[in-house]
Amino acid sequence: MKGVFWVGAIDWMLRDFHGLWTPKGGTYNAYLIVDEKVTLIDTVAPNFTEELLNRIRTIIDPAKIDYIICQHVEPDHSTSYVAMIEAAPKAKIITSKKGAEFLKLNYPGVEFPVEIVEDGGTLSLGKRSLTFVKIPMVHWPETMISYLAEEQLVFSNDAFGMQIATPYRFADQLEDWYEPLRAYYSYIVRFNAKAVLNAFKKVEGIPIKIICPSHGPIWRKNIERIIEIYHRWSSNPEQKRAVIVYSTIWNSTKRMALMIREGISNVGVPAEVYDLEREPLSRVQGAAMEAKAVVVGAMTYNIDPYYPTAAFMPYLKHLRPDNKIGAAFGSYGWGGGATRVLTQQLKDFNFGEVLDPLDVQFRPSEEDLKRCFDYGQEIGRKVIAAFS
Ligand code: FEO
Repeated sequence: MKGVFWVGAIDWMLRDFHGLWTPKGGTYNAYLIVDEKVTLIDTVAPNFTEELLNRIRTIIDPAKIDYIICQHVEPDHSTSYVAMIEAAPKAKIITSKKGAEFLKLNYPGVEFPVEIVEDGGTLSLGKRSLTFVKIPMVHWPETMISYLAEEQLVFSNDAFGMQIATPYRFADQLEDWYEPLRAYYSYIVRFNAKAVLNAFKKVEGIPIKIICPSHGPIWRKNIERIIEIYHRWSSNPEQKRAVIVYSTIWNSTKRMALMIREGISNVGVPAEVYDLEREPLSRVQGAAMEAKAVVVGAMTYNIDPYYPTAAFMPYLKHLRPDNKIGAAFGSYGWGGGATRVLTQQLKDFNFGEVLDPLDVQFRPSEEDLKRCFDYGQEIGRKVIAAFS
């Protein structure tokens, strides 16, 4: 688009973004608008400031920048502000009141040339103008987005983002964007799903042709579809499917997991199994977000769930599982305890329905495996009933 440039950074080597699974790297997007006023939207993560500056230099001298829009203070977007106020000495940092407060707290001792904008406030750039809309908790309380009305383009910051490194600039050039988008949403956004719905209400009716997020490719096609997916994930992400997660030491709980899966599948509900010691947490979280039933398994270690399942549980809570069916299973040697803890957690997390747990002592016998199969069928039937 004439006068709007991507000047971000690509981290080809990124494999973990504060816990988010990033098998294909990541991106930190910043955008430059060259109008009568030169404006930079967001900056990039630590170690990428030089890349940002070099990209800006291919377009214009950074000293000519008039405005730097700070949409979100998390360090993956704000770290370069310190260098930018040196490189662009006449620039003002435009942010929300909360953004100004957070900048002070994140960069103690730095005097940023901040100008505060109100919710709905506008900034003329010359031929075009930006309108700012606060979208608190998508992702932090200070987050805002910026709308370039003349181009029907929204700079959406974390919303509609995904962590992926790609040579392509646009999402429609990718073969598969669904899973990275889902992993990002489930890990970073889903906990604040209500805030996303509130944000949608605020921008309802505003025409949008292009969405420029702060991570991953730009959306220029199928805008309605991507907004519909975000709506679904923020309201009712559950589909007619099940996810079984487990951790095990001597494979008894694994055998239970596989047989429970057979039972669920046998009544016609697609079910996936994840070994929590082998799968990245956020990949499992993405699958669990879209599952109607989440079945958690762990062997008893002393009196508690084995640690990979124990570590997963808070992230299951962050999915806001009110509309899900939950169940717990696992093997134990003598006293047991894991499934008691897991079942109580599922209830505490407000799962819509929680089944009684299924336990097996030491090794599953043929009879035990039949119980697992039947347990799976019971879960599968409940999933079907929920969609009938
Ligand atoms: Fe990409 Fe919430 O920072």
